[in-house]
Amino acid sequence: MSQHKPGGKSNATGAARAEARANIAFVKYWGRADDARNLPLNDSISLTLDRLVTTTTIEFAPALDADEFLLNGGAATPAETARASRHLDHLRALAGTKTRARIVSENAFTTAGGLASSASGFAALTVAAAGALGLDLDARELSRIARLGSGSASRSLFGGFVRWRAGNDRESVAEPIVPMGHWDLRDVIVVVEAGRKKTGSADGHSLARTSPFLTGRLDSLPGTLSAVERGIRERDLAIMGPAIEAEALSMHAVMMTSNPSLLYWTPDTVRMLLAVRDFREERIPTWMTLDAGPNPHLICEAGTVPRLLSRLKEMGFGGEHVLVCGPGEGPKVDRLQP
Ligand code: PMV
Repeated sequence: MSQHKPGGKSNATGAARAEARANIAFVKYWGRADDARNLPLNDSISLTLDRLVTTTTIEFAPALDADEFLLNGGAATPAETARASRHLDHLRALAGTKTRARIVSENAFTTAGGLASSASGFAALTVAAAGALGLDLDARELSRIARLGSGSASRSLFGGFVRWRAGNDRESVAEPIVPMGHWDLRDVIVVVEAGRKKTGSADGHSLARTSPFLTGRLDSLPGTLSAVERGIRERDLAIMGPAIEAEALSMHAVMMTSNPSLLYWTPDTVRMLLAVRDFREERIPTWMTLDAGPNPHLICEAGTVPRLLSRLKEMGFGGEHVLVCGPGEGPKVDRLQP
């Protein structure tokens, strides 16, 4: 709950619009050390994606009795509104206000429902609300606050290649690994299923500890993290690719062996896992990663994309089912006249 600070701006008004981008994790966050604060069991590494943008406008209005949340043109569900509201409480507490807000949020990728991301959503909400409330917070602090909404949102506070560190509440923030523009990598997303997933990552994290494979995964992660970070620094997909594909399979092995078991794959997911092996034999250097869902993310260099797209087309995947993303920037915010 938000605390009203005596002397604070109890009747804050203010409005802002922010945009933030989703990210694809190359080393995954799966399982938490602390559920309430979204403190991860391990460091993770991601690439912020240019085309997966969420735009959020927020207006704090003293006349409102409750927060209002419009998502992709319709009213958000009560659960979504409550989650956004709890998140705003962190920012309201910092600003010393209890003023409620009207939130309007749009994803630029609604045709691909399965890609709707809590990362871009909570990053945009954090930055918009901080801007509207006039809070002067640095990117580290914004990353920490975004993490409280959704762990992976901490990484969307930065553009390009980003590492989010495990640690306590102060330490567990993200930071860029290399400058923007360091490596022109592509994430070719094949939308094999556009619907909502049955178990979202928010609940899935709590199941990680029920898998007997979690310990093995955590033991292997320091090696994976250093291979992936080295691959990025040296712009070497031959180092990074095998490490990220094995890493995604390791996370899904934990998911499948949890109790209850989480199985996100569809037949097309497996088809694509087999296909990338063929692509590599055909000298189309591509490696696959997966989030908590069935949609393959095919990682390759920009020059590989035309050959990859033509192979995907032969397999029946084209048009709006394939989304080619490059490195994306960190969030932007504009204050608006309320
Ligand atoms: O931030 P969350 O709670 O939506 O968790 C994200 C989990 C994965 O997407 C599967 C992995 C990751 O690191 O992004």
